[in-house]
Amino acid sequence: MCSIIGYTGRLYAAPILVQSLKRMEYRGYDSVGIATINNGKILIRKGIGKVAEVNESLDLGHLPGQIGIGHTRWATHGGVTDKNAHPHPGCTNDIAVVHNGIIENYSELKAELIGLGHKFKSQTDSEVIAHLLELHYSSHRDIRQAMIETCKKLSGTYAFVAVFEDGTVSGARYDEPLIIGIVDSGCFISSDVLGFIEYTDKAIFLDNRDIVVSNRDRLELFDFDGHSVTRPITQVAWELGAAEKGKYTHHTLKEIHEQIQTIIEAGNQNNEKLYSFCDILSNAKNLYITGSGTSYHSALIAKHLFSRFAKIRCETIMSSEFQYMLDAVDDKSVLIAISQSGETADVLQAVKIARQMGSKILSVVNIPTSSVARISDSFLSVNCGPEIGVAATKSFTGQLSVLYSIVDTLCNGCVGISRDKSEIIKAIELVLDDEIKIAEIADTMEDTKDIYILGRSLHYPISLEGALKIKELAYIHAEGIPAGEIKHGPLALIEKNTIVIVINPSDATYNSTISSAYEIKARGATVIGISDKLDEVYDHFIKIAKVSDPLFPLVEVIPLQILAYYLALKKKADPDYPRNLAKSVTVR
Ligand code: AGP
Repeated sequence: MCSIIGYTGRLYAAPILVQSLKRMEYRGYDSVGIATINNGKILIRKGIGKVAEVNESLDLGHLPGQIGIGHTRWATHGGVTDKNAHPHPGCTNDIAVVHNGIIENYSELKAELIGLGHKFKSQTDSEVIAHLLELHYSSHRDIRQAMIETCKKLSGTYAFVAVFEDGTVSGARYDEPLIIGIVDSGCFISSDVLGFIEYTDKAIFLDNRDIVVSNRDRLELFDFDGHSVTRPITQVAWELGAAEKGKYTHHTLKEIHEQIQTIIEAGNQNNEKLYSFCDILSNAKNLYITGSGTSYHSALIAKHLFSRFAKIRCETIMSSEFQYMLDAVDDKSVLIAISQSGETADVLQAVKIARQMGSKILSVVNIPTSSVARISDSFLSVNCGPEIGVAATKSFTGQLSVLYSIVDTLCNGCVGISRDKSEIIKAIELVLDDEIKIAEIADTMEDTKDIYILGRSLHYPISLEGALKIKELAYIHAEGIPAGEIKHGPLALIEKNTIVIVINPSDATYNSTISSAYEIKARGATVIGISDKLDEVYDHFIKIAKVSDPLFPLVEVIPLQILAYYLALKKKADPDYPRNLAKSVTVR
């Protein structure tokens, strides 16, 4: 949700921190701040806005010092204000803290600390960490002990990094990611590898209850009980850093276009991993699939594919609902978790609950070093590179491509995607060639307040996904509806010029869906068709190529992504960073 970064080393910290925060801005972008140490003094600058804006107004990058911490915020406790921006100092200026997560017992702690004379400056839960550290540090000036005492007091989920006036940077993790990047004479402590990948590919992934204390001479790891711990150094792929916009105006548009390659990459799974994944899956007594948002829509498609082609029944459960639906989850169950980030708190909670009940965990993730991947018995990677746009695009089709490969393995190649992806790639190229035409359709929808998207069978999850893209990118109310359900109620919403998008490729659903389109048209709606087959019912038509039936979702979602992107531009919204959202939702 928020991004945190700490740096100690030979270089000037401030410009490095600003650059790191820009790369991790997808995690939250309400406000920004950094703190550095210069001549034994902590200097703090912070303000509301995006990294580039705050950097320009407050000149963050010119704070002196070779040690520092930084933060971008996604507000949970306390409004979006300069005062609530991180870093937070205690009462004295000996310590400053940046935090990601939620401190659940902050009001009790705050009351206790106020009773001891501490003065709070913000409304955040995070500030209690600074005061707790100050309390424990001031008594014996022992950073190690202060960190342990502080962590023992906190409940909730957190990763935080603190800077101390003596030049030490220290971090702790509990259910939020924290990764060390090792550089000469120092280190980074970061929410994401992207925070340091420009400087090093040597990373240490901290476990829950790990604390790191670092300065130029030492890097010490221990747990909340004070016992030393060792964690392996992992070499992370430099490609993780390939997060530039290139020739595109936005990451989101670039990522939409990248799907031609990323679908292939995602489908190229290592056979051994794929077989062992499928082995676990096919031995399940009960199979569940979970995910949030877009990843949940992938789960819905997987459910159809498993049932139709592999004759495997499964249940899909939104991760945020998983805790309420545990009746049949047991040690003979298998849970497949789908997640781009592998850090979504709801998904992690579902995985942990299933694990506690003895289930096996499989996952499909884009970040192979993520928490979900690391807890899994077996995982498959989507391999689509960093997705910076907050709206999932290439990770969605990447997840589908992995799921098709799984189904193909289970049904001995009956879907056919493992053999040949050229049909799909050509079809996607055709849609991308129509970008301007889709942008022109978006032009006609400028004043639209509601958009309905219809689809049946495999196309229904795509209607949900298209609606989600329109909501989050263009701030327009949009709803995916199973086409057959329209007559059971939603038809009452249709009036003259209501926009209805109909996903209607020429498969077994075609005839029924075209009838739904006529029913809607008869009530005055403007109908936009996405199909390989033209029909006079459509006021606007987005042609897609004919592909083998089960593969249509991979193609038909792309015009919806493009449409949402151009609607966002029309609304003057920033497609990469939709308001109120964050890419990685690490709070529940
Ligand atoms: C998708 O456009 C959204 N930004 C969001 O729904 C996202 O898919 C969801 O938060 C799940 O994230 P994950 O795949 O990283 O777990």
